[in-house]
Amino acid sequence: MRDQAEQLRERMLQNKKTRPTRLVTVTSGKGGVGKSNFSLNFGLGLIEKGHKAVLFDLDLGLANLDVLMGITPKKHLFHLLEPDTTVWDIIEHGPGGLEFIAGGSGFTQIMQLDDEKLDRLFSHLDPLQGYADTIIFDTGAGFSKESMRFMLSSDEVILVTTPEPPAITDAYAVIKMLHSRNPAVSIRLVINRASSEREGKMTADKLAMVSKRFLNMDIQSLGYVSDDPYVSKAVKLQRPFLLTYPQSQAARSIRNLVERYLDRPVTTDDSISGLKGFLARLRHFIR
Ligand SMILES: Nc1ncnc2c1ncn2[C@@H]1O[C@H](COP(=O)(O)OP(=O)(O)OP(=O)(O)O)[C@@H](O)[C@H]1O
Ligand SMILES: [Mg+2]
Repeated sequence: MRDQAEQLRERMLQNKKTRPTRLVTVTSGKGGVGKSNFSLNFGLGLIEKGHKAVLFDLDLGLANLDVLMGITPKKHLFHLLEPDTTVWDIIEHGPGGLEFIAGGSGFTQIMQLDDEKLDRLFSHLDPLQGYADTIIFDTGAGFSKESMRFMLSSDEVILVTTPEPPAITDAYAVIKMLHSRNPAVSIRLVINRASSEREGKMTADKLAMVSKRFLNMDIQSLGYVSDDPYVSKAVKLQRPFLLTYPQSQAARSIRNLVERYLDRPVTTDDSISGLKGFLARLRHFIR
């Protein structure tokens, strides 16, 4: 009789052939607008819908994903360069079935790897292709040239902003920068901390209008997340708000947003999407 591990492996191989994996980088212009909280709860919202999300923490700021979940990662991405370490050894298990990978020292360290090590690192991630439906990279504030390469290499960029003018201005700067490197880049907006649906919509419309007018670029919105005191309460408890306060406004808006994400996938050529395409592009943008 075949053992369970063998059956699991077979299922994963099967999935590999049929399920595309999308790589999404979550970013912002201004810091502290809610990227990490969004990434975490968005990932959990996808999982609630039976969509397999794996989160990568590439944020070197203080409020790391592990802090938001109240767990201490034992391993991180760079342990993959050690002998006999597989991706399954470095995946940490958070609440709500969330799987995540801590990023070590993040972008800078990744970008300093030579070709051989970069290949080795990402070939170890290969089993995630087909295992995960979406891989989410949570990034730190601002844009360094390293994070820019990551964004340009992903299938999609989720740009988080609040409705406040300084955050909007900085978000537009990110759009402009990404557009100047790749006019076909796929960006979707998330308006966080909106006081109403109307404010969320108006903020997204404003950014979309400016992008159309000055860059001739179409930018879609994934929706908004309510400004909600339960977010801060959950952060203090080190628990994701989607799980601890499932009826809160913020949790409700995340669920709406998840529906929209699942309903409207970004269309790309699948032969170049996923991890393989990502690595090819990452190398292209590094050199
Ligand atoms: N929807 C929201 N409603 C109310 N407060 C929020 C909301 N989203 C985020 N916050 C507040 O903003 C703080 C910062 O959020 P978070 O750490 O997710 O931002 P970030 O963009 O990841 O920051 P950094 O740029 O440092 O990585 C949270 O601790 C929380 O208090
Ligand atoms: Mg963060």
